[in-house]
Amino acid sequence: MKIAVLGAAGGIGQALALLLKLDLPANSVLSLYDLAPVTPGVAKDLSHIPTSVKVEGFAGTDPTAAIEGADVILISAGVARKPGMDRSDLFNINAGIIKNLVAKVAEVAPEACIGIITNPVNTTVAIAAEVLKAAGVYNKNKLFGITTLDVIRAEEFVAELKGLPSEDVRVNVIGGHSGTTILPVLSQIQGISFTDQEVIDLTSRIQNAGTEVVEAKAGGGSATLSMACAAARFAVQLVDALSGKQGIIQNAYVDGGNPASPFFTQPLLLGKNGIDKVLPYGELSSFEESKKQEMLSVLHADIEMGIDFVSKTLVTEAS
Ligand code: LMR
Repeated sequence: MKIAVLGAAGGIGQALALLLKLDLPANSVLSLYDLAPVTPGVAKDLSHIPTSVKVEGFAGTDPTAAIEGADVILISAGVARKPGMDRSDLFNINAGIIKNLVAKVAEVAPEACIGIITNPVNTTVAIAAEVLKAAGVYNKNKLFGITTLDVIRAEEFVAELKGLPSEDVRVNVIGGHSGTTILPVLSQIQGISFTDQEVIDLTSRIQNAGTEVVEAKAGGGSATLSMACAAARFAVQLVDALSGKQGIIQNAYVDGGNPASPFFTQPLLLGKNGIDKVLPYGELSSFEESKKQEMLSVLHADIEMGIDFVSKTLVTEAS
């Protein structure tokens, strides 16, 4: 399998590339691309690590060589938040970056699975879908907004609160990837009970965890290492499923036919062609159901913004 990382010289991209070099199955090809001239050097650096994953690196304005023949393309390119911003403040810069990169993917590797990390994920995934539709190559089973960071945070925060090993905690996180659209379904966690106040506090901490990092980094950016860990976890599971491993379930933000929203994060059974089956997200407590209802207008507006952006830019390009 060939896995490409677009944005590979950035804080997320370099850490992600390292984890993929260590964790991808033997004989995978890891292809790194970024505008930054350092990218072939990042690939050279990684290539000295003794694993059977071949690494190649490309820099410049054209990602073609990096994505040719790719099975999975992970996109982390773009700018990160600074304190006081929310993810939607990144839209003006990142929307265009995603549109251009996905247009190239549509042309060069239309069969690839695409995993989007670049924020605002609620919107950039909708942009990617519209670009792929315009190119006539949209396959909703192969486009993912990577929201695994919300899952690993939820698992870690629950484990920390209850004094449990993190590996023993599994949390279903649904919705989207910003503020109130992130909804951890704490009521479904087996064998752990919470007070009402714990549910309120944990939900709020998980929803605002990205901001916790942005503030702690004090102007130096947003989560890179935990995001890379989350994206690597998702990508390795996806590669395993594409290679034929059965029974792999991951949550991601997808066009899964959910009547509540055109894109929604929920559990997915992954298979040889991307999503094999969109799984139900299960029963919600009344607190979670009300939070879900509250988030929908935000999610819909985020998605609309992406659809509008692509239709306006396509009209401008055509005229
Ligand atoms: C996160 O959740 O940490 C990322 O989406 C980055 C951000 O801006 O919060």
